[in-house]
Amino acid sequence: MKKIICIIATMLACSGLQAQKWEKVGDRPQMGWSTWNKFAGNINEDIIRGIADAMVETGLAEAGYTYINIDDCWHGKRDKDGFIQADPKRFASGIKSLADYVHDKNLKLGIYSDAGTGTCAGMPGSFGHEYQDALQYARWGVDYLKEDWCNTTNINPIGAYQLMSDALREAGRPIFLSMCEWGGNEPWKWASEIGHSWRIGPDIWCCFDSTRVHEGGWTDIGVMQCIRKNEKLRRYAGPGHWNDPDMLEVGNGMAANEDRAHFTMWCMMASPLILGNDIRSMSEETKAIVMNKEMIAVDQDELGVQGLHYCDEQGLEFWFKPLSGGDWAMTMLNATLAPITYELNWQRFNLTDEEVSRLSTAFDKTVYKVRNLWTHKDEGKTLLKDKVWKKVTVPSHDVVTYRLSPIAK
Ligand code: GLA
Repeated sequence: MKKIICIIATMLACSGLQAQKWEKVGDRPQMGWSTWNKFAGNINEDIIRGIADAMVETGLAEAGYTYINIDDCWHGKRDKDGFIQADPKRFASGIKSLADYVHDKNLKLGIYSDAGTGTCAGMPGSFGHEYQDALQYARWGVDYLKEDWCNTTNINPIGAYQLMSDALREAGRPIFLSMCEWGGNEPWKWASEIGHSWRIGPDIWCCFDSTRVHEGGWTDIGVMQCIRKNEKLRRYAGPGHWNDPDMLEVGNGMAANEDRAHFTMWCMMASPLILGNDIRSMSEETKAIVMNKEMIAVDQDELGVQGLHYCDEQGLEFWFKPLSGGDWAMTMLNATLAPITYELNWQRFNLTDEEVSRLSTAFDKTVYKVRNLWTHKDEGKTLLKDKVWKKVTVPSHDVVTYRLSPIAK
């Protein structure tokens, strides 16, 4: 008995050494915008203010996009006491004034640092300054931190991210921690108690299905490559801790059907929806994609289950995501180069999500109302019979997505 008490006391004492991450932050996948995909390091405070204005004016804020994230290159130098300062030219009025500006619009501000000695663009990293940086962000009114992984030779990733998590907790302001370790150390296995999301792979680039290798040897990956990595990790995601296949490239140059497929798949995978286009000048086509509220509801569904890549048939991928209230989202993704016409028989998809939710589609017992989430039209009901329901054509690099809602008997 004495021994057991001793072990419990030791466990409590040890766990007391580590602060908990901020709870109730990131209960749904984070939604917002980031500077990086469109502007890379060419950023300044006018862009941030303009984006905050556009977020409200376009209706994006109302659709759920909340965080305005300043990625790499906002930094100036550390002051004589080691506190980081914003670049005095490009962010002359300072981060606090930007935070006030976005808070006035009911939005939130995100910032970027790196667990190593320098950021990927060579700005000062947080290594050795974690508590000071967290304190500075909290004083400024920052709500979100993306912590990158460049220049980290000999640094232990679990320790490094735990340290920043503890520092953010101590600083006293609820701050979302977005870990950007690129998946090399399998953060999905250890990060769920440390931060709120973790990157699962290298940087995305604006291409549907190919990779790009840089001179230095690092590789950017396309939409399909992000999906291939993320689909294996669904069991690790859930409310407060999400797999992050990287920020969106919608509106940055892919064809509209590819943008639609990209956005849909991020929603099916309960991924963070961080826009990466210039929302001050979006086309109507782009707006219709990123503001598809029925699709966003799939991403933000309170069950928080990452969708399942159930099977492939005749070149189509079949994806299912259980939703609250017995609903399901179902996507047919055509990643091939030609359109595919498929005879859809619901009885082929009687599945149970054994890995995560344990929920079953039970198309043999339940009739569902079928709503097309891109045409926004109801398309009738599923059939209990083993019979073709409809011929559906899915264009190349595109999707057809339905929301299925059980009809009360
Ligand atoms: C890394 C990250 C990117 C971006 C850049 C900034 O490559 O993965 O998302 O933050 O650094 O330099």
